[in-house]
Amino acid sequence: MCGIVGYIGPQQATPIVLDGLRKLEYRGYDSAGIATINQGKINICRAEGKLLNLEKRLLDQPLIGHPGIGHTRWATHGRPSEINAHPHYAGGFVVVHNGIIENYLDLNTSLREQGHNFSSDTDTEIIAHWIEEHYKECGDFESAVRKALGDVRGAYAVAILSEQEPDKLIVAKQGSPLVVGQGQGEFFVASDIPAMLAHTRQMIFLEDGELVVFTAEAMAITTLAGMPVQKTPKTITWSPVMAEKDGYRHFMLKEIYEQPRAIADTIAGRIREDQAEVFLEDIGLEDVFLKGLERIYIVACGTSWHAALVGKFLLEKHARIPVEVDIASEFRYRDPLVTEKTLTLLISQSGETADTLAALREAHGKAGKVLAICNVVESSIARESDGVIYTHAGPEIGVASTKAFTTQLVALYLFTLYLGDLRGNLDQQNRRTMLDALVSLPGKIEECLKLDDAIEQAAHGLMQVHDFLYLGRGNQYPIALEGALKLKEISYIHAEGYPAGEMKHGPIALIDEQLPVVVIAPHNETFDKVAANMEEVQARGGRVVSVTDQAESGLADKAEIVFVTPKIIDDLMPVLTTIPLQLLSYHIAVLKGTDVDQPRNLAKRVTVE
Ligand code: G6P
Repeated sequence: MCGIVGYIGPQQATPIVLDGLRKLEYRGYDSAGIATINQGKINICRAEGKLLNLEKRLLDQPLIGHPGIGHTRWATHGRPSEINAHPHYAGGFVVVHNGIIENYLDLNTSLREQGHNFSSDTDTEIIAHWIEEHYKECGDFESAVRKALGDVRGAYAVAILSEQEPDKLIVAKQGSPLVVGQGQGEFFVASDIPAMLAHTRQMIFLEDGELVVFTAEAMAITTLAGMPVQKTPKTITWSPVMAEKDGYRHFMLKEIYEQPRAIADTIAGRIREDQAEVFLEDIGLEDVFLKGLERIYIVACGTSWHAALVGKFLLEKHARIPVEVDIASEFRYRDPLVTEKTLTLLISQSGETADTLAALREAHGKAGKVLAICNVVESSIARESDGVIYTHAGPEIGVASTKAFTTQLVALYLFTLYLGDLRGNLDQQNRRTMLDALVSLPGKIEECLKLDDAIEQAAHGLMQVHDFLYLGRGNQYPIALEGALKLKEISYIHAEGYPAGEMKHGPIALIDEQLPVVVIAPHNETFDKVAANMEEVQARGGRVVSVTDQAESGLADKAEIVFVTPKIIDDLMPVLTTIPLQLLSYHIAVLKGTDVDQPRNLAKRVTVE
């Protein structure tokens, strides 16, 4: 996590770097800082807390000059404070860093022995000192950086400036993302695409072990060992407006409302209507492999893991393959039974989550094939996988994931159709029914969004409580988990998701007049059983909030509040039931006055393990 930005060119660096940091604040907001070079001297401004604090400080202490680098922090080593804020300076070098230096204690001891004093508790500061130390020997900025990074173990994306060679910017990447934006006579670097979209759409995606030396006129990409690397920029289709709030109060609300469009975009161009077939352009896996598959592992973290749980229902039902779902941070520690007849399906919005990336490498290490469902083009996971199904959600800025989740569900549905067809488990008639339902999905989400006012109203009566229980059964159980996670993340109310049938094995003990129980109850084969759960809650004085797909379902007697979504086939129902739960969390959080887009302690991209 943490976001880094760099600029080299003729313009003043601070406004460009600051604007880039605004787009990266979702990555961390414990502190922020900028360094520029003016008349050969490095100037630094830093502030604890959100970027706003840095902006205020810059009004009193303007930073002029170019080039410039900046950072927004999610604390790992050293508590959130001004002294631990990046950039970190030593002996004429200044560094911003995203990642973790694993051997920093060893390096720190060795530097102290050589007389270095440290002004922060971070692992990053040692990089500046280590470069200074090497510079004393070689007298060359680039060589000193190469040598210093060669001694470092761990993950990093770094941007470095030097008073010794003030017309250069050096960046390098190992394990943390870094993208170069190519302008006219100027260059930008950032942890993520949206930070540069206002300036260029020509982007170069760096690989691990690459280092770039920039002057305003030119850049040279090499490996850390100094071998030249040739790369051509890719044109990014995301527009700058997509990374703006566009009149919405929060990014999260905007992204909830974008779902009909995001889902339509994820489907677009992937359906051949005449044959009722799905076409996946970057699938990258041969038919013979997919036909011979014996097992699928779906591996992900957080909200993407909830999508994975829904994927198991889809794939086992329609492609008739055993599916196991794993949390990425657990996967590689249990020696998974990956063989050459196994597919590891990774789901990641960012494509940069460290644990998911490690799971990818674990699967590849065992000669397994990997397919990724990803939202960020050319992200590490997308690049290292054998194939990708991109979700076309556009940039998701709100830390709590919304449109990325529902587009992941759609990508899983498309893959299920593709695989079910290939393996002869879904005939044309079935595929056509499923595809017709899919095409109707964006319109039905629009209808769900009309519940917004009613949900806001209901939120007033629910915001004071301390705990929530969410229940769902079958493919709605993952939605109960996701509903509970959304509420926890942004309102800080404790919430648990449970399979409805398990309520009697524990959670029922929690029920009293204070506990709202959100029950997801579409009309499917388990409806009666879930409705019985509602009665059990009511009988114990609990408050039932229900999400269902039929107004006349008799739920009015069983629930204090009922939200009714449109009907759709059961396989797609999880997409529709998600929408009211997103809105409910959103409105409760707004009423509680929390920071919806940047909830405390969280970060959107977890690039540390
Ligand atoms: C973080 C984010 C979540 C996200 C999870 C996995 O925890 O706050 O919203 O679901 O990481 O991220 P990924 O990018 O791999 O989907």
